Amino acid sequence: MTDTRHPTSSGASTPSLSTQLLATARCVRAVEQGRSLSDVLPEVAAPLRPGVQALTFHVLRHLGTARAVVASLAPRKPQPAVHALLCSAVALLLDEGDERGAAGSAGARVPQYAAHTVVDQTVNAAREERGTARQAGFVNACLRRFLRERTPLLASLADDPVARWNHPRWWIERLQRDHPAQWQAILEASNQPGPMTLRVNRRHSSREAYRQALQDIGLASTPVGSDGLVLDAPQPVERLPGFAQGHCSVQDAAAQMAAGLLLEGREEARIHRVLDACAAPGGKTAHLLESADLDLLALDVDARRCARIQDTLARLGLRAEVRCADAARPEAWWDGRLFDAILLDTPCTASGIVRRHPDVRWLRRESDVAALAATQRALLDTLWPLLRPGGRLLYATCSVFRAEGSAQVQAFLEHHTDARVRPSVGHLLPGSASAAGQFNDNHPGGYDGFFYARIDKAGP
Ligand SMILES: C[S@@+](CC[C@H](N)C(=O)[O-])C[C@H]1O[C@@H](n2cnc3c(N)ncnc32)[C@H](O)[C@@H]1O
Repeated sequence: MTDTRHPTSSGASTPSLSTQLLATARCVRAVEQGRSLSDVLPEVAAPLRPGVQALTFHVLRHLGTARAVVASLAPRKPQPAVHALLCSAVALLLDEGDERGAAGSAGARVPQYAAHTVVDQTVNAAREERGTARQAGFVNACLRRFLRERTPLLASLADDPVARWNHPRWWIERLQRDHPAQWQAILEASNQPGPMTLRVNRRHSSREAYRQALQDIGLASTPVGSDGLVLDAPQPVERLPGFAQGHCSVQDAAAQMAAGLLLEGREEARIHRVLDACAAPGGKTAHLLESADLDLLALDVDARRCARIQDTLARLGLRAEVRCADAARPEAWWDGRLFDAILLDTPCTASGIVRRHPDVRWLRRESDVAALAATQRALLDTLWPLLRPGGRLLYATCSVFRAEGSAQVQAFLEHHTDARVRPSVGHLLPGSASAAGQFNDNHPGGYDGFFYARIDKAGP
């Protein structure tokens, strides 16, 4: 397994690009070995981490192009550490000059380094990495050749969909089948960094009052949904007024729709006892509790993630019963009292949130889709009997694949005659909806990809 730990040069205020590139290549390699970037990045030394995160995100968003370029430059695949370093450097060199070539990039938030700096620093990094020092000349030759032949080389990749879209081929083909009119816009949006969106805790202040508090310290924002504010530019949370005191949370606008969809008409429908079946880290649990006084049971099967629900609720000053338990085995945790409402925010491929997690596309396998769909089906079938007649279940996934969304719910309805789907949001598609005209409130680039269906149980 790749060791991503890296010491910083002591006393250096800004780590050199070669040091950052070395750590970036180790992160990329770790992802290629199947590790999640959320696990890998914390292992990078703290002073290096912000720069390495930005570089790694950039490389992962261009990895399809970079791999194809490296394959052209080095027909015999170099050893993995050298390959990761070359891919990282090529990703940084793609935008050099004003020609983007066929495999143009999007959304980079890394500094624009001069090409000769990238080459020199990559060669230095190769000299520093264990076991690759003898490859430094090869790295130098490959990168210099890329700079000489960049335009024709990128043009030669025009028909390679993986190089063009920077997603695995199976993923692209699935999107083409699932969303024939929008697949390109979805992929385009998936390669852009998402905006930073806040959810104002309405138990503390109104959205307008909080927006003014942001404005007072020079942070401009735009309202979205019922409680959201999209910041014009991302900020460290420490800069946000009252963040530690729970005045706001960071949550995408798509995820913020869950509470309103589950609680719509709550008093008339007598919604009080609520199950949040897959709750960690507690973003939607907290929004539900900020929105209404509820008797809420928050479950998650992962003990470490359950601790994060507790942290979320403590910061926001909210209360719920939190239990570490498998939602698919109610005999171990259910007291037999039916629920008025269930939020089932299931484990999924996360294909809708790749703009925030650019490693996900390279970690998933096509077979994961069917495996996760089977888990989702089992959770739906198991939890449905725990809902009282007249109650409602909100099924949610942060996926744009139909097998996890509309097809899943369609199959459920065919097997449950007491289930009625309400007119629901359906698939939220990042960046493409206004072009399709199907989801009017889904402005381009504004939402992560999600799926929501509210299913009501035939009444008493
Ligand atoms: C999409 S995340 C939930 C996000 C959360 N609702 C939020 O808004 O912060 C899915 C969660 O389901 C949990 N999970 C997976 N299988 C489960 C099971 N059988 N029972 C309970 N939780 C499960 C995972 O640990 C993960 O935390």
